[in-house]
Amino acid sequence: MKMKLFATAAIMALGLAACGGGEPAPAEPTPVAEAPAPAPEVTPAATTEIGAAPADIPAFMKMRHDNYEDIGKNMKVLQDNMKLDAPDMAAVTAAATKIKGYADQMATWFPAGTGPESGIKTEAKAEIWTDRATFDAAVVKLQEESGKLAAVTDAAAFKAQFPVTGGTCKGCHDKFRQEDK
Ligand code: HEC
Repeated sequence: MKMKLFATAAIMALGLAACGGGEPAPAEPTPVAEAPAPAPEVTPAATTEIGAAPADIPAFMKMRHDNYEDIGKNMKVLQDNMKLDAPDMAAVTAAATKIKGYADQMATWFPAGTGPESGIKTEAKAEIWTDRATFDAAVVKLQEESGKLAAVTDAAAFKAQFPVTGGTCKGCHDKFRQEDK
């Protein structure tokens, strides 16, 4: 009782009572701080699914960026073929298969420490780490629809499936990518 009164008086004296951001009183239970990970060696993962921070975060993030650029290049091949009456089906299948391959790995591209808090330029939004279930569902959608695209054998099927696959790109980007243009 005496301790508590003393602690309160001490806080008042320090002028912290009215300040919400002040240090907690010594007598109060201290909440566990959730500090963001500033360095590669720290293990910040709150959930095991997200994965531990890679040892070389800049290299990891460059790999991710390069992979997305290559996805974009393959998408361009598909877009170009969409304009043709007789699309090059071998090129279509190759590009769609490439995208499906990336989609299968995509869930592993966002371990702890590789988001905006890294301080490295990235279009990846913090929501990827705070809403992983929704993000993972978007990855699965791309896997499914790019898989269907890789399996088409004629122009009509390609032209029907391409917009569906493209929609899964947009669906994820709208929520999880901050385009800096
Ligand atoms: C599950 C989410 C998700 C899906 C699905 C997805 N992307 Fe992305 N994409 C991202 C995120 C997040 C980034 C930002 C990555 C970064 O900056 O590190 C990105 C970045 C990109 C970039 C930018 C690369 C650059 O040069 O900066 C391109 C291009 C791209 N995506 C194309 C596609 C295409 C095409 C598809 C569909 C075939 C697709 N993405 C599907 C999440 C997704």
